[in-house]
Amino acid sequence: MLDKLEKIEKEALKTLASVKDKANLEKWRLAKIGRHSPMMNMFSQMASLSKEERPAFGQGINRLKALLEKEFEDRRAHIKQAELEESLASEKLDISLPGRPVKMGRLHPSTQNLRRVLGILAEMGFQVYTARDVESDEYNFQLLNIPPHHPAREMQDTFYIDTGNNDESEKQVLRTHTSPGQVRAMREFSSQNPDNPPPIRIALPGMCYRFEQITARSEVQFNQVEGLVLGQTITFGDLKGTLSEFARRMFGSHVKTRFRSDHFPFTEPSAEMDIECYVCGGKGCSVCKKSGWLEILGCGMVHPSVLANGGYDPARYSGFAFGMGPERQLMLRHKISDIRYFWGNDIRFLEQF
Ligand code: PHE
Repeated sequence: MLDKLEKIEKEALKTLASVKDKANLEKWRLAKIGRHSPMMNMFSQMASLSKEERPAFGQGINRLKALLEKEFEDRRAHIKQAELEESLASEKLDISLPGRPVKMGRLHPSTQNLRRVLGILAEMGFQVYTARDVESDEYNFQLLNIPPHHPAREMQDTFYIDTGNNDESEKQVLRTHTSPGQVRAMREFSSQNPDNPPPIRIALPGMCYRFEQITARSEVQFNQVEGLVLGQTITFGDLKGTLSEFARRMFGSHVKTRFRSDHFPFTEPSAEMDIECYVCGGKGCSVCKKSGWLEILGCGMVHPSVLANGGYDPARYSGFAFGMGPERQLMLRHKISDIRYFWGNDIRFLEQF
Protein backbone atom coordinates (compact mmCIF):
# COMPACT_ATOMS: atom_id res chain seq x y z
CA MET A 1 0.00 0.00 0.00
CA LEU A 2 2.76 2.38 0.90
CA ASP A 3 4.44 1.51 -2.40
CA LYS A 4 1.27 2.50 -4.14
CA LEU A 5 1.31 5.87 -2.40
CA GLU A 6 4.89 6.35 -3.50
CA LYS A 7 3.98 5.53 -7.09
CA ILE A 8 1.08 7.98 -7.01
CA GLU A 9 3.36 10.68 -5.60
CA LYS A 10 6.08 10.18 -8.20
CA GLU A 11 3.65 10.12 -11.10
CA ALA A 12 1.71 13.17 -9.86
CA LEU A 13 4.83 15.28 -9.32
CA LYS A 14 6.25 14.28 -12.68
CA THR A 15 3.16 15.32 -14.63
CA LEU A 16 2.81 18.51 -12.58
CA ALA A 17 6.29 19.60 -13.64
CA SER A 18 5.17 19.70 -17.28
CA VAL A 19 1.98 21.69 -16.64
CA LYS A 20 2.45 25.15 -18.15
CA ASP A 21 -0.97 26.80 -18.11
CA LYS A 22 -4.13 27.23 -16.08
CA ALA A 23 -6.27 24.87 -18.15
CA ASN A 24 -3.87 21.97 -17.84
CA LEU A 25 -3.34 22.75 -14.18
CA GLU A 26 -7.08 22.36 -13.61
CA LYS A 27 -7.04 19.03 -15.46
CA TRP A 28 -4.18 17.93 -13.27
CA ARG A 29 -6.04 18.99 -10.13
CA LEU A 30 -9.12 16.96 -11.06
CA ALA A 31 -7.02 13.95 -12.03
CA LYS A 32 -4.59 13.92 -9.10
CA ILE A 33 -6.22 15.48 -6.09
CA GLY A 34 -9.88 15.64 -7.12
CA ARG A 35 -12.58 13.60 -5.45
CA HIS A 36 -12.27 10.74 -7.91
CA SER A 37 -8.50 10.75 -8.14
CA PRO A 38 -6.54 7.52 -7.32
CA MET A 39 -5.17 9.25 -4.23
CA MET A 40 -8.60 10.02 -2.85
CA ASN A 41 -9.71 6.47 -3.66
CA MET A 42 -6.92 5.22 -1.40
CA PHE A 43 -8.70 6.75 1.61
CA SER A 44 -11.61 4.36 1.17
CA GLN A 45 -9.19 1.43 1.20
CA MET A 46 -8.10 2.27 4.69
CA ALA A 47 -10.93 0.17 6.12
CA SER A 48 -9.49 -3.01 4.60
CA LEU A 49 -6.15 -2.59 6.44
CA SER A 50 -5.21 -4.22 9.67
CA LYS A 51 -5.02 -2.18 12.87
CA GLU A 52 -1.20 -2.29 12.73
CA GLU A 53 -0.94 -1.10 9.18
CA ARG A 54 -3.40 1.74 9.52
CA PRO A 55 -1.34 4.41 11.35
CA ALA A 56 1.57 4.30 8.90
CA PHE A 57 -0.74 4.34 5.94
CA GLY A 58 -2.83 7.14 7.48
CA GLN A 59 0.26 9.25 7.98
CA GLY A 60 1.52 8.46 4.51
CA ILE A 61 -1.65 9.38 2.71
CA ASN A 62 -2.21 12.55 4.72
CA ARG A 63 1.35 13.60 4.00
CA LEU A 64 0.83 12.85 0.31
CA LYS A 65 -2.41 14.84 0.22
CA ALA A 66 -0.77 17.83 1.93
CA LEU A 67 2.24 17.57 -0.37
CA LEU A 68 0.23 17.47 -3.58
CA GLU A 69 -2.01 20.28 -2.45
CA LYS A 70 1.02 22.41 -1.64
CA GLU A 71 2.71 21.54 -4.93
CA PHE A 72 -0.54 22.46 -6.70
CA GLU A 73 -0.63 25.89 -5.01
CA ASP A 74 3.04 26.51 -5.80
CA ARG A 75 2.47 25.59 -9.42
CA ARG A 76 -0.53 27.85 -9.63
CA ALA A 77 1.46 30.78 -8.26
CA HIS A 78 4.26 30.00 -10.67
CA ILE A 79 1.95 29.96 -13.70
CA LYS A 80 0.29 33.20 -12.62
CA GLN A 81 3.65 34.90 -12.31
CA ALA A 82 4.75 33.59 -15.71
CA GLU A 83 1.58 34.84 -17.36
CA LEU A 84 1.97 38.25 -15.79
CA GLU A 85 5.55 38.50 -16.99
CA GLU A 86 4.52 37.47 -20.47
CA SER A 87 1.77 40.07 -20.68
CA LEU A 88 4.08 42.77 -19.37
CA ALA A 89 6.66 41.83 -22.00
CA SER A 90 4.10 41.94 -24.79
CA GLU A 91 2.80 45.34 -23.70
CA LYS A 92 6.24 46.77 -23.23
CA LEU A 93 6.42 50.38 -24.33
CA ASP A 94 9.63 51.83 -25.69
CA ILE A 95 9.21 55.46 -24.80
CA SER A 96 12.34 56.39 -26.71
CA LEU A 97 10.69 55.50 -30.06
CA PRO A 98 9.56 58.46 -32.18
CA GLY A 99 5.79 59.10 -32.03
CA ARG A 100 3.38 58.66 -34.90
CA PRO A 101 3.06 62.06 -36.56
CA VAL A 102 -0.41 63.59 -36.57
CA LYS A 103 -1.26 64.99 -40.00
CA MET A 104 -1.95 68.67 -39.61
CA GLY A 105 -4.35 70.48 -41.87
CA ARG A 106 -3.49 73.92 -43.16
CA LEU A 107 -5.07 76.96 -44.67
CA HIS A 108 -5.48 77.14 -48.42
CA PRO A 109 -2.66 79.21 -49.99
CA SER A 110 -5.21 81.80 -51.13
CA THR A 111 -6.53 82.16 -47.61
CA GLN A 112 -3.00 82.45 -46.26
CA ASN A 113 -2.17 85.24 -48.68
CA LEU A 114 -5.52 86.94 -48.21
CA ARG A 115 -4.86 87.05 -44.47
CA ARG A 116 -1.37 88.41 -45.04
CA VAL A 117 -2.69 91.22 -47.25
CA LEU A 118 -5.45 92.04 -44.76
CA GLY A 119 -2.94 91.89 -41.89
CA ILE A 120 -0.74 94.48 -43.56
CA LEU A 121 -3.68 96.72 -44.41
CA ALA A 122 -4.97 96.36 -40.84
CA GLU A 123 -1.60 97.55 -39.51
CA MET A 124 -1.98 100.54 -41.79
CA GLY A 125 -5.33 101.42 -40.25
CA PHE A 126 -7.73 99.69 -42.62
CA GLN A 127 -10.84 98.06 -41.26
CA VAL A 128 -12.14 94.88 -42.90
CA TYR A 129 -15.54 95.29 -44.53
CA THR A 130 -17.34 92.48 -46.31
CA ALA A 131 -20.00 92.73 -48.97
CA ARG A 132 -22.11 90.20 -50.80
CA ASP A 133 -21.08 87.72 -53.51
CA VAL A 134 -24.43 87.96 -55.28
CA GLU A 135 -24.85 91.56 -56.41
CA SER A 136 -27.38 93.50 -58.37
CA ASP A 137 -26.46 94.70 -61.82
CA GLU A 138 -26.95 98.17 -60.37
CA TYR A 139 -24.20 97.86 -57.75
CA ASN A 140 -21.84 95.74 -59.81
CA PHE A 141 -22.04 98.06 -62.83
CA GLN A 142 -24.39 101.03 -62.96
CA LEU A 143 -23.44 102.78 -59.72
CA LEU A 144 -19.80 102.35 -60.78
CA ASN A 145 -20.32 104.32 -63.99
CA ILE A 146 -20.80 101.23 -66.11
CA PRO A 147 -24.23 101.68 -67.73
CA PRO A 148 -25.85 98.96 -69.88
CA HIS A 149 -23.99 98.54 -73.18
CA HIS A 150 -20.86 100.20 -71.77
CA PRO A 151 -17.83 98.56 -73.41
CA ALA A 152 -16.27 97.87 -69.99
CA ARG A 153 -18.89 95.18 -69.47
CA GLU A 154 -17.26 93.16 -72.16
CA MET A 155 -14.02 93.06 -70.20
CA GLN A 156 -15.97 91.47 -67.40
CA ASP A 157 -17.95 88.57 -68.71
CA THR A 158 -20.64 88.12 -66.19
CA PHE A 159 -22.58 85.28 -64.60
CA TYR A 160 -26.20 86.42 -64.53
CA ILE A 161 -28.59 84.79 -62.11
CA ASP A 162 -31.97 83.89 -63.46
CA THR A 163 -34.49 85.54 -61.12
CA GLY A 164 -37.31 85.78 -63.64
CA ASN A 165 -37.11 89.58 -63.39
CA ASN A 166 -35.64 91.17 -66.49
CA ASP A 167 -35.75 94.76 -65.31
CA GLU A 168 -32.19 96.03 -66.03
CA SER A 169 -31.48 97.34 -62.50
CA GLU A 170 -33.00 94.31 -60.80
CA LYS A 171 -30.81 91.80 -62.57
CA GLN A 172 -28.68 89.77 -60.18
CA VAL A 173 -25.09 88.82 -60.96
CA LEU A 174 -22.18 87.10 -59.26
CA ARG A 175 -19.94 90.06 -58.54
CA THR A 176 -17.24 90.42 -61.17
CA HIS A 177 -15.06 92.50 -58.85
CA THR A 178 -15.13 93.72 -55.24
CA SER A 179 -15.73 97.35 -56.31
CA PRO A 180 -19.54 97.22 -55.77
CA GLY A 181 -18.67 96.90 -52.06
CA GLN A 182 -17.32 100.47 -52.28
CA VAL A 183 -20.79 101.85 -52.89
CA ARG A 184 -22.34 99.56 -50.28
CA ALA A 185 -19.84 100.76 -47.68
CA MET A 186 -20.23 104.43 -48.66
CA ARG A 187 -24.01 104.18 -48.44
CA GLU A 188 -23.85 102.45 -45.07
CA PHE A 189 -21.45 105.03 -43.59
CA SER A 190 -23.13 108.07 -45.15
CA SER A 191 -26.57 106.98 -43.95
CA GLN A 192 -25.25 107.22 -40.38
CA ASN A 193 -24.77 110.95 -40.82
CA PRO A 194 -26.02 112.21 -44.21
CA ASP A 195 -24.92 115.85 -43.69
CA ASN A 196 -21.47 114.98 -42.46
CA PRO A 197 -20.52 111.48 -43.57
CA PRO A 198 -17.56 110.00 -41.68
CA PRO A 199 -14.18 109.30 -43.33
CA ILE A 200 -13.66 105.74 -44.55
CA ARG A 201 -10.63 103.47 -44.61
CA ILE A 202 -11.65 99.91 -45.43
CA ALA A 203 -10.25 96.73 -46.95
CA LEU A 204 -12.84 94.64 -48.71
CA PRO A 205 -11.90 91.02 -49.47
CA GLY A 206 -13.95 88.51 -51.36
CA MET A 207 -14.45 86.00 -54.14
CA CYS A 208 -15.21 87.36 -57.60
CA TYR A 209 -16.62 85.47 -60.57
CA ARG A 210 -16.25 85.79 -64.31
CA PHE A 211 -17.85 83.85 -67.09
CA GLU A 212 -14.70 82.83 -68.86
CA GLN A 213 -13.14 79.85 -70.54
CA ILE A 214 -11.01 78.22 -67.86
CA THR A 215 -7.40 78.20 -68.98
CA ALA A 216 -3.96 78.33 -67.35
CA ARG A 217 -4.39 82.12 -67.12
CA SER A 218 -8.08 82.60 -66.40
CA GLU A 219 -10.44 81.05 -63.90
CA VAL A 220 -14.14 81.55 -63.26
CA GLN A 221 -13.45 82.53 -59.67
CA PHE A 222 -10.67 84.37 -57.86
CA ASN A 223 -10.25 86.58 -54.84
CA GLN A 224 -9.81 90.32 -54.80
CA VAL A 225 -8.99 92.74 -52.04
CA GLU A 226 -10.45 96.18 -52.57
CA GLY A 227 -9.31 99.22 -50.65
CA LEU A 228 -11.26 102.42 -50.17
CA VAL A 229 -10.09 105.60 -48.44
CA LEU A 230 -12.37 108.62 -48.26
CA GLY A 231 -12.00 111.92 -46.50
CA GLN A 232 -12.01 115.66 -46.98
CA THR A 233 -8.37 116.10 -48.01
CA ILE A 234 -7.41 112.86 -49.73
CA THR A 235 -5.17 113.33 -52.78
CA PHE A 236 -3.43 111.21 -55.38
CA GLY A 237 -0.31 111.70 -53.24
CA ASP A 238 -2.03 109.75 -50.46
CA LEU A 239 -2.83 106.99 -52.92
CA LYS A 240 0.81 106.74 -54.03
CA GLY A 241 2.16 106.93 -50.51
CA THR A 242 -0.24 104.35 -49.10
CA LEU A 243 0.19 101.86 -51.92
CA SER A 244 3.97 102.24 -52.01
CA GLU A 245 4.10 101.57 -48.29
CA PHE A 246 1.82 98.57 -48.76
CA ALA A 247 4.16 97.23 -51.46
CA ARG A 248 7.18 97.65 -49.17
CA ARG A 249 5.46 95.72 -46.37
CA MET A 250 4.20 93.08 -48.77
CA PHE A 251 7.19 92.57 -51.05
CA GLY A 252 10.15 93.90 -49.06
CA SER A 253 11.51 97.27 -47.99
CA HIS A 254 13.64 97.80 -51.10
CA VAL A 255 10.92 97.14 -53.65
CA LYS A 256 10.63 99.73 -56.41
CA THR A 257 7.18 100.75 -57.57
CA ARG A 258 5.81 102.68 -60.50
CA PHE A 259 2.38 103.93 -61.47
CA ARG A 260 1.15 103.75 -65.05
CA SER A 261 -1.93 105.59 -66.15
CA ASP A 262 -4.84 103.35 -66.97
CA HIS A 263 -8.59 103.53 -67.22
CA PHE A 264 -11.41 102.32 -64.95
CA PRO A 265 -14.92 103.78 -65.27
CA PHE A 266 -15.21 104.26 -61.50
CA THR A 267 -11.93 106.09 -60.87
CA GLU A 268 -10.49 109.26 -62.35
CA PRO A 269 -7.59 109.48 -62.81
CA SER A 270 -6.86 105.76 -62.84
CA ALA A 271 -3.57 103.91 -62.65
CA GLU A 272 -1.96 100.55 -62.38
CA MET A 273 0.81 99.93 -59.91
CA ASP A 274 3.79 97.81 -60.90
CA ILE A 275 6.58 96.56 -58.68
CA GLU A 276 10.04 95.86 -59.96
CA CYS A 277 10.26 92.18 -60.87
CA TYR A 278 11.70 90.38 -57.85
CA VAL A 279 12.70 87.39 -59.92
CA CYS A 280 15.18 89.21 -62.18
CA GLY A 281 15.54 92.49 -60.26
CA GLY A 282 14.25 94.46 -63.23
CA LYS A 283 16.56 93.01 -65.87
CA GLY A 284 13.78 91.17 -67.69
CA CYS A 285 12.82 87.49 -67.40
CA SER A 286 10.02 85.09 -68.25
CA VAL A 287 7.98 85.97 -65.15
CA CYS A 288 7.86 89.71 -66.01
CA LYS A 289 7.79 88.90 -69.71
CA LYS A 290 11.05 90.81 -70.26
CA SER A 291 9.58 94.09 -69.02
CA GLY A 292 11.30 94.13 -65.61
CA TRP A 293 7.99 95.04 -63.95
CA LEU A 294 5.06 93.13 -62.48
CA GLU A 295 1.57 94.60 -62.43
CA ILE A 296 0.03 94.05 -59.01
CA LEU A 297 -3.04 96.27 -58.67
CA GLY A 298 -5.46 98.74 -60.26
CA CYS A 299 -6.23 101.98 -58.50
CA GLY A 300 -7.43 105.56 -58.88
CA MET A 301 -9.22 108.51 -57.32
CA VAL A 302 -12.86 107.64 -56.71
CA HIS A 303 -14.92 109.11 -59.55
CA PRO A 304 -17.13 112.07 -58.43
CA SER A 305 -20.30 110.38 -59.60
CA VAL A 306 -19.42 107.23 -57.64
CA LEU A 307 -18.88 109.40 -54.54
CA ALA A 308 -22.29 110.96 -55.14
CA ASN A 309 -23.87 107.50 -55.60
CA GLY A 310 -22.48 106.59 -52.20
CA GLY A 311 -23.90 109.68 -50.52
CA TYR A 312 -20.62 111.60 -50.32
CA ASP A 313 -20.66 115.13 -51.77
CA PRO A 314 -17.85 115.20 -54.37
CA ALA A 315 -17.38 118.93 -53.74
CA ARG A 316 -16.34 118.22 -50.14
CA TYR A 317 -15.02 114.65 -50.22
CA SER A 318 -12.39 112.86 -52.23
CA GLY A 319 -10.78 109.48 -51.96
CA PHE A 320 -8.93 106.67 -53.61
CA ALA A 321 -9.63 103.03 -54.26
CA PHE A 322 -7.58 100.04 -55.32
CA GLY A 323 -8.13 96.42 -56.17
CA MET A 324 -5.69 93.53 -56.19
CA GLY A 325 -5.73 89.76 -56.68
CA PRO A 326 -4.19 87.58 -53.96
CA GLU A 327 -3.95 84.57 -56.28
CA ARG A 328 -2.17 86.64 -58.89
CA GLN A 329 0.34 87.78 -56.27
CA LEU A 330 0.95 84.17 -55.25
CA MET A 331 1.41 83.12 -58.86
CA LEU A 332 4.06 85.76 -59.36
CA ARG A 333 5.78 85.08 -56.06
CA HIS A 334 5.94 81.29 -56.43
CA LYS A 335 6.13 81.16 -60.23
CA ILE A 336 2.89 79.17 -60.38
CA SER A 337 2.28 78.75 -64.07
CA ASP A 338 -1.34 77.61 -63.99
CA ILE A 339 -4.15 79.34 -62.11
CA ARG A 340 -6.23 76.14 -62.21
CA TYR A 341 -4.10 74.72 -59.39
CA PHE A 342 -5.87 77.00 -56.91
CA TRP A 343 -9.26 75.34 -57.10
CA GLY A 344 -8.08 71.98 -58.43
CA ASN A 345 -7.83 70.55 -54.88
CA ASP A 346 -4.66 68.67 -55.73
CA ILE A 347 -3.10 67.90 -52.38
CA ARG A 348 0.38 67.83 -53.96
CA PHE A 349 -0.03 71.50 -54.80
CA LEU A 350 -1.74 72.55 -51.57
CA GLU A 351 0.81 70.80 -49.36
CA GLN A 352 3.57 73.03 -50.67
CA PHE A 353 2.19 76.04 -48.78
N1 PHE B 1 -12.24 96.56 -59.90
C1 PHE B 1 -11.06 96.63 -60.72
C2 PHE B 1 -10.84 95.27 -61.39
O1 PHE B 1 -11.60 94.39 -61.19
C3 PHE B 1 -9.86 97.00 -59.90
C4 PHE B 1 -9.92 98.38 -59.33
C5 PHE B 1 -10.44 98.56 -58.05
C6 PHE B 1 -9.46 99.46 -60.02
C7 PHE B 1 -10.51 99.84 -57.51
C8 PHE B 1 -9.51 100.74 -59.48
C9 PHE B 1 -10.04 100.91 -58.23
O2 PHE B 1 -9.92 95.10 -62.12
